[in-house]
Amino acid sequence: VTTIKVGMLGLGTVGSGVVERLREAATKIEQMQGVRFQLAAVAVHHLNAPRRVVLPVGTRLTNSIDAVVTDPEIQLVVEVMGTVATAKAAIITALQHGKSVVTANKDLIATAGDQLVALAQQRCCDLFYEASVAGGIPILRTLTDSYATDTVQSVTGIINGTANYILSAMTQTGQSYAEALATAQRLGYAEADPSHDVQGIDAAYKLIILSRFAFGQGLTVKQVQPVGITSVTAAQCRQAAVNGWQIKLLAQARQHGQRLYCRVAPVAVGQDQALSQVGGVQNGIMIASQAIGDSLYTGPGAGSSATANSVLNDMVVAGQRIRTGIRGAAFNRNHHQLTVTHFNQ
Ligand code: NDP
Ligand code: HSE
Repeated sequence: VTTIKVGMLGLGTVGSGVVERLREAATKIEQMQGVRFQLAAVAVHHLNAPRRVVLPVGTRLTNSIDAVVTDPEIQLVVEVMGTVATAKAAIITALQHGKSVVTANKDLIATAGDQLVALAQQRCCDLFYEASVAGGIPILRTLTDSYATDTVQSVTGIINGTANYILSAMTQTGQSYAEALATAQRLGYAEADPSHDVQGIDAAYKLIILSRFAFGQGLTVKQVQPVGITSVTAAQCRQAAVNGWQIKLLAQARQHGQRLYCRVAPVAVGQDQALSQVGGVQNGIMIASQAIGDSLYTGPGAGSSATANSVLNDMVVAGQRIRTGIRGAAFNRNHHQLTVTHFNQ
């Protein structure tokens, strides 16, 4: 069994889940993968804040990100703190110090993923970020592995758990928008600043990442022009349901020839459509492809345990590659040159 020293940045909803999942799955990972993760250090913002989890004996709690990402003993850095500039600087330093990196940070991967992937490859390190899209659903590995020889025609997804939770609660329980948002925040689904969840920006970030994998084509938030759910009322949701519709925040990308159409917006989905049944914090991603046809992938799109599980699986893949000495695989499917167009144009 190879011991791999891990440094983690962040000990909030996801970071605490990673500590728990590491503890639960340690024996299985050792027996099946031949890897033992030793959590050497965890960086947080508020050193004395109360914590949901007890760290393993010997794990260092620090408020110095630099001490973690430059520690010569640490081989794998797990970034689950969020932010863009701070996380980007930390990941760059970690990669420059030859460490593999796992992150759940969609804001960062959507906006600077290409640069980080290039750096990882240049430094022969791994960079994985399965948890950045659709929480617990292993959609990036599915697109990487199972669609490698297929041609994706369209991706239609409910990919923000908070927005779906709010819309579902307003439809089914008659909760107000504010009440439902407060519950989603309490349950750890929402971002530290939930404006990205409700304005469609978080879904746009995930669509940008999905699009790289599905079509080999990056997008920008400006191209997606996200419209959120801030103007949708409980009365509209209930009236739509009476008429046979469910209002969903849909993220869509569809290829037609050399054009890629995209958008994020609230859409009334017919109750006979599978995506209309994806409720609460669940996410659902419908992929239409040439060889497979239509496939729907559903599961928890946010939350501590499900998201941490995606992080842990990335850690296991990175750990295996550190153990065998084969590294330099960053998730990266951005290779086409399609003309990106908004759905409404
Ligand atoms: P939280 O707000 O719950 O936790 C963030 C953690 O990072 C906290 O422990 C905080 O420290 C620490 N932190 C923040 N800034 C700094 C800093 N400058 N230096 C050191 N530590 C810092 O966030 P989540 O766990 O919910 O999310 C983490 C990441 O995972 C984000 O990128 C998010 O988008 C992503 N994600 C979240 C999901 C979810 O369901 N919540 C699902 C998928 C992805 P302290 O505790 O001391 O304040
Ligand atoms: N805030 C995000 C959501 C977390 O609600 O979907 C998962 O990325």
